Amino acid sequence: MQEDKTPKGALDRVLTVEVMRVTERAAVSAARLRGRGDEKAADQAAVDAMRRELNRLSIEGIVVIGEGERDEAPMLYIGEAVGSGGQRVDIALDPLEGTTLCAKDMPNSIATLALASGGALLNAPDVYMDKIAVGPGYPPGVVDLEMPPAEAMRRVAEAKGVPVNEVTACILDRPRHAKMIEEVRQTGAAIRLIGDGDVAGVIHTTDPIETGIDIYMGSGGAPEGVLAAAALRCIGGQMQGRLILKTDEHKARASRMGIDDYDRIYTHEEMARGDVYFAATGVTDGNLLEGVRFYPGYITTETIVMRSSTGTVRTIKAKHTDFSKFILD
Ligand code: FBP
Repeated sequence: MQEDKTPKGALDRVLTVEVMRVTERAAVSAARLRGRGDEKAADQAAVDAMRRELNRLSIEGIVVIGEGERDEAPMLYIGEAVGSGGQRVDIALDPLEGTTLCAKDMPNSIATLALASGGALLNAPDVYMDKIAVGPGYPPGVVDLEMPPAEAMRRVAEAKGVPVNEVTACILDRPRHAKMIEEVRQTGAAIRLIGDGDVAGVIHTTDPIETGIDIYMGSGGAPEGVLAAAALRCIGGQMQGRLILKTDEHKARASRMGIDDYDRIYTHEEMARGDVYFAATGVTDGNLLEGVRFYPGYITTETIVMRSSTGTVRTIKAKHTDFSKFILD
C-alpha cells in the first residue's frame, strides 16, 4: 500500500472538484452580463452564485477576504459563515475580479476563490497593498519590496540570463504608478500595463512563456493580494505584500483584524499558510484562461484549480449541458 503523504489536518481531496464548481457558477453568472457596461449587476450576479454554491459545500467556512466589511457588504462579508458543515476553513474570495473588465468585455476577468485550513489566510482589511511577485525558478529573495523598481528589473534579467530589455513587468495603469513606470522604462525593460485585475497579473508571472510577463509590481487591493498569494503558494513563485495603512482609520481596521505591525512585509507564505486550494474560472478570455462560452444547448468554462500540499495544478475545461445548475433567468 502506498504511503499517504497528505499532511495531517489537510483539506479533503474532494474539495478540488467542489471548489471548482463554485467559481464556475460565479463565472457563468457574471459572463451573462459581459460587455453590458454594468459593473454592479455583473458583480451581484457573481456574488449570488458564489454564495449559493459555497453554502452547498461540506465545510464550516468563514469568509476572511470577501466583498467588504460587515457594515458595507450585505453578502459574503468578512466574518460571514458559509457552508453546510464540515471542516473549518478560511475562505478568500472575489466572485468577480475585474468587474470593469467584465462590464467592458475586456481580457482577464475571473471568478476566484481560495480556501485553507482554519486560521491560515491573512485577515487583511480592504485597503491597498504594495506588491511584487515573480514566478517559480528564481533564487529566494531575487526581488523584494525594498529595492527600487529598476534594480528589481535588472535582478530578474540577470537571474533569467537575458538582457534587461528582454524582461517584461506587469503594472496596473494608474497615475500612482507613474514614477515606477518611468523607472522601469529607463532600464529598457517592457511594461504590460493592465487596466484592472492584479490577481491575474500576479498569476501571469508563473508562466512567462505563455503570458509574456516576468514580474508583477505596484499597489492594488490587499484582498486581491491575499488571493494572489494563495495561488503562488500552490503554483510556486515568490511574492511580497505590505499593507498601505495611511490613516488612523486604516490602522484601526487593521488592528481589529489582529494586525499590529503596520509596516510589516508579508511573504506569500505568510499571507496563505497551511493546506491551500486556489481556483479561478475565466469570465472573459485571458492569457491563461478562456472565458465562458455560450453555445446552443451548452456552456463551456475553463478553470485552474491548484492545491499547495500536492503542488498539482489542473486546468479543466468543462462542458455544461444541464442548465438547471445555473440561474439563467
Ligand atoms: P474590482 O474587481 O473590485 O473592480 O478590482 C479590480 C482591481 O483592478 C484589482 O485587481 C486591483 O487590486 C484593484 O482593482 C486596484 O484598485 P484601484 O482600481 O483602486 O487602483
